[in-house]
Amino acid sequence: MLEKSLRFFYSVLFCVIFTLILNHTTMAECNSNDGFLPQPKGFSTKAIHVGQDAEQWNSMAVVPPISMSTTFKQFGPGQHAGFEYGRSGNPTRDVLERCLASLDNGRFGLTFASGLGATTTVITMLQSGDHVVAGDDLYGGTNRLLRNVAIKMGIQIDFVDLTNLKLVEQAIKPNTKLFWMETPTNPLLKVVDIRAVSEIAHKQPGIVVVVDNTFLSSYLQRPLDLGADVVMYSLTKYMNGHSDVIMGAMIMNDEKIYERLKYLQNAAGIVPSPFDCYLVNRSLKTLALRMEKHKSNSLAIATFLETHPKVERVLHPGLKSHPQHELAKRQTYGHSGIMSFYIRGGLEESSNFLKALQVFTLAESLGGYESLAELPSVMTHASVPIEQREELGITDGLLRLSVGLEDVDDLIADLKQALDKA
Ligand SMILES: *Cc1c(COP(=O)(O)O)cnc(C)c1O
Ligand SMILES: *[C@@H]1O[C@H](CO)[C@@H](O)[C@H](O)[C@H]1NC(C)=O
Repeated sequence: MLEKSLRFFYSVLFCVIFTLILNHTTMAECNSNDGFLPQPKGFSTKAIHVGQDAEQWNSMAVVPPISMSTTFKQFGPGQHAGFEYGRSGNPTRDVLERCLASLDNGRFGLTFASGLGATTTVITMLQSGDHVVAGDDLYGGTNRLLRNVAIKMGIQIDFVDLTNLKLVEQAIKPNTKLFWMETPTNPLLKVVDIRAVSEIAHKQPGIVVVVDNTFLSSYLQRPLDLGADVVMYSLTKYMNGHSDVIMGAMIMNDEKIYERLKYLQNAAGIVPSPFDCYLVNRSLKTLALRMEKHKSNSLAIATFLETHPKVERVLHPGLKSHPQHELAKRQTYGHSGIMSFYIRGGLEESSNFLKALQVFTLAESLGGYESLAELPSVMTHASVPIEQREELGITDGLLRLSVGLEDVDDLIADLKQALDKA
């Protein structure tokens, strides 16, 4: 009897503490007074609970099991419990796809073996003779896929500065089927007006607008709310955030687009493993916490760099000096840990700087808990044709940082000592 009431007492106590913690974190998220959009309540709760009901498993597991089975028993021929073969559907993948969709306020989610796998799947929606309008400052791998693979398949592509709405309007042709944009862009951090570009593209029926939202994650920007048709992710970056999974995703509201992409996910077979789905799913539970820290760390670093005599210019949408700062505040919930800056000098200075870093690691990729630094002209964007690089301003003095979750004072001290040696 005593034991029973004690247990009751403890469970009430637990609920009270849980509620307090929950209220505290949502309030902290909503009160950030930095000029960006205020977060609506409930993001973290969705990230932790959507699709979570233990009742869906016979074991009532609170952390769902990883379902490794490649095939599923049928009651009779063609009569199954929702799953037949692991490529066409898997319970662990299914749960992740539902969680991802909810975070972007979308109805449907699909996951792929990599971010580029997701992009390839979109390309297979097109046919020879179709026209694509793509941003001119894209992830290097996307640029390579469009230039060296899609064009060979007879697809026409124009690379356009999507921050210039006049050019956007002029780029549309009768055979345009797809708009591909990244915002902020890579590595120049230009901010594209998602709402305005989507409106222009949608004047012509049948154009699908895709936003690669990898740089900000669903916590800091939700393109479907702004009029885009599909949100694409390299989950490899912030969404997983621990630099230990390669995976991609797409989220959408339109059922026809979903059916087509789901068909292609199975038909082209670019699917992720259940184990990786489990890892990404686990990472989503800390997405809001991680992004808040990336956001404050990167802004502190941008502010520091802007005053340093060896730095020519800092590119960070959270700075007043950024040309689209007002737009960034209007369409995003903040800026992540990715930023770039021009060091005074060229290859020699940037190489000296990179070699002197001790807390930042010299490596490609971004969006993990660890801070990284790289030289786009030689590393991530080496595959972009030199003329295009020059036109865009991807020089040997342009450095890209992915600011991680370390103590910001240590990061600033590291940049300071490396700049001294540059
Ligand atoms: C990394 C990245 C991709 C490609 O994703 P993978 O998972 O590496 O295939 C696409 N877009 C952006 C913006 C990226 O950073
Ligand atoms: C994934 O996370 C969601 C929500 O965070 C949860 O509902 C689901 O059960 C998790 N699935 C797995 C396989 O861990």
